[in-house]
Amino acid sequence: MSRCLQGKHILLGLTGGIACYKSAELVRLLVREGADVHVLMTPAAQQFLTPLTLQSLSGNSVATDLFSLSEELHVGHIRLADLADAYLIAPATADVVAKLAHGNADDVVTTVALATRAPLLVAPSMNVNMYEHPAVQENLERLARRGVRVIPAAEGELACGWHGKGRLAEPPVLLAEVERAVTPPVFAGERIVVTAGPTREFLDPVRFLTNRSSGKMGFALAAAAWRRGAEVMLVSGPVSLPTPHGVARRNVVSAAEMYEAVADEFSRATMLVMCAAVADYRPAVCQPTKVKKQSKGWTLELQPTIDILASLKPQKGNRFVVGFAAETDQVEEFGREKLERKGLDLVVANDVSRPEAGMEADMNAAILLDRFGGRIELPLMNKADLAEAILDRIAELRQRTA
Ligand code: PMT
Repeated sequence: MSRCLQGKHILLGLTGGIACYKSAELVRLLVREGADVHVLMTPAAQQFLTPLTLQSLSGNSVATDLFSLSEELHVGHIRLADLADAYLIAPATADVVAKLAHGNADDVVTTVALATRAPLLVAPSMNVNMYEHPAVQENLERLARRGVRVIPAAEGELACGWHGKGRLAEPPVLLAEVERAVTPPVFAGERIVVTAGPTREFLDPVRFLTNRSSGKMGFALAAAAWRRGAEVMLVSGPVSLPTPHGVARRNVVSAAEMYEAVADEFSRATMLVMCAAVADYRPAVCQPTKVKKQSKGWTLELQPTIDILASLKPQKGNRFVVGFAAETDQVEEFGREKLERKGLDLVVANDVSRPEAGMEADMNAAILLDRFGGRIELPLMNKADLAEAILDRIAELRQRTA
């Protein structure tokens, strides 16, 4: 998890829908990430969930009434509006979406939406026919045109018995959206291709050569790049990780397939971050049927695969290209050699012989070497934090190359 919510003041407005129960879970997630969460509720929301539940989860008093002598004395709705780093209204009913679109302010949730200068996010939730109604869609479009982040409703079973679009987005999606809202969009306008995971090079239909890469490092980079405002395409080898919210994904299996996908995406990209552990060799022959066990040994002939980074070097232009170097010895020396030979702007050299770092582990450490002669050593930390530190460095260096 990233640390971008540490100490941030997040307002969460609840309006009257059954999906209020998901917002209770969201409060828990936000608090776990270090946010200071203030909940606001309309009278209708209080029919579904009590303020006491949300007060207990958030650790802050809940705003329910614009005219309450005690609530206005303790925090006050304008102070809440001023305090906010982001304001999410979830669930947002059709009625509240209409009020927001037209600037009505007749309860604490809609009044604070008008009063705050913080980014406003709206996550609608309602019956599918209501959601698809032109009135609701026009109101949502109007909000989006005004700069409000509309988080589309998800499709599935609805509490009313219908099936279709109208479900409140899941709490992890809402969390990712809030994290993005409080993160400076330093990569807005960038289209970043990130590769992750291993490749598989088949010997026969059931056996393959591969490596221990889990994809964790590359997926953390993709999620962090999206939070910073980039459009992100993740090209992934076979891994068991869910796609980070907001990120587009292409799945590949072999080094040859990864080359095809990356070369295709590279033409539209402004940056490439090659974190995948691409096989350097593949069997010269892939047998069409399963090879039967025999008493004698099996000698394999291996051929080099295409070097993706090296082959894209002639088309680099002013794209920012980052390679990784996975080493077990002379980490810095071999990293520097790859920086030069592959024509990179930055190489992230990591020691994959350490049991607590590198492949599969949740933690990693790295030395960042750039083409301007810079060198930064990043100590052991979790991969989400390391991804942030790598992107901080990319953002700094990008200024010099763009
Ligand atoms: O996935 P995790 O479990 O989280 O582990 C993360 C990691 C250890 C895999 C990651 O941090 C890492 O080091 N990735 C690069 C692994 C690798 O293949 O390194 P390399 O030194 O063999 O290759 C150097 C660079 O060339 C890499 O950017 C690689 O993507 C690229 N390459 C390699 C082979 C090839 N045929 N084409 C390439 O472009």
